Amino acid sequence: MLQRLLITRRIYPEALARLEPAFEVVHNQDTDIPFTPEQLAAHLARSDYLFSTVADRLDASVLGAASSLRLVAQGAVGINNIDLAHCAAHGIAVTNTPGVLDETTADFAWALMMATARRIPESERAVRDGQWKGWAFDQFAGVDIHGATLGILGMGRIGSAIARRAQGFGMEVLFHNRTPSDSALARYVGKADLLARADFVIVVVPYTPQTHHLIRAEDLAQMKSSACLINIARGGVVDDAALVAALASGRIRAAGLDVFEHEPALHPGFLELQNVVLTPHIASSSRATRLAMQNLAIDNLLAHRAGAPLKTPVALPGSTLEHKTSV
Ligand code: GLV
Repeated sequence: MLQRLLITRRIYPEALARLEPAFEVVHNQDTDIPFTPEQLAAHLARSDYLFSTVADRLDASVLGAASSLRLVAQGAVGINNIDLAHCAAHGIAVTNTPGVLDETTADFAWALMMATARRIPESERAVRDGQWKGWAFDQFAGVDIHGATLGILGMGRIGSAIARRAQGFGMEVLFHNRTPSDSALARYVGKADLLARADFVIVVVPYTPQTHHLIRAEDLAQMKSSACLINIARGGVVDDAALVAALASGRIRAAGLDVFEHEPALHPGFLELQNVVLTPHIASSSRATRLAMQNLAIDNLLAHRAGAPLKTPVALPGSTLEHKTSV
């Protein structure tokens, strides 16, 4: 008998075609409307496998109903939406998609940094609104990226890919991780030093209880007033209310944000400001990379089904696997 697999969001047809022979698939391909927690719990009560995304809140209240669930194959590298302790206690394996999205996500960090520094969305809005009356010296004057100092908070695979790109722009690159380490691409400094010296601060750490509000009012107060903050990590790593206040008062120059504390809801203050660039959690969203993420999740689902080793297991609390969740 085929095992039941719940897929929470639409996936590419060629990815779905790999799953349909192996599982009885339940999905919302047609509407792609997210399940409510109640719907998710009801589906999970009848599922053996789950193909999840970052937008599914898989806490104990939802997973509690999932008595036959064996594997959560997350189609993302971040796994902060999953109650790992619950999974460990109930014998549910978890996998994620490290590696396949690093370069695309690093490209996007640069896109967001450039859009923020050079005020591209703001100036584009003005052109569309018919406000461009002619060339002027001080029109939408931005700040230079080349030759500036870049500070990377979280030098994992994606952080390193961002640092590599910075070489071509002649930047000085600083980084900070919880554990001091060496990098051929950048210089390790303390967090306060990084915040005080960087012209651009990019946040690339996983979201954990330790990184909750890693950037709060007192951290923003340490940054240069000319500096820009870029968050491609997770909402919650930055205190959005504190950031709105810092942007509104000119405490820092600008921000580029792909993730938000309560996404898809935004702190309303962001919408009032011109010096923030807002994108809807799309850093890994090139078609090729989103397909690669889906295929890696599927490789894990098919491996589990066949009794083979999982390709990219997440270490669960109490397991001896190396922790594979850093970005
Ligand atoms: C996206 O946010 C991911 O974690 O892959």
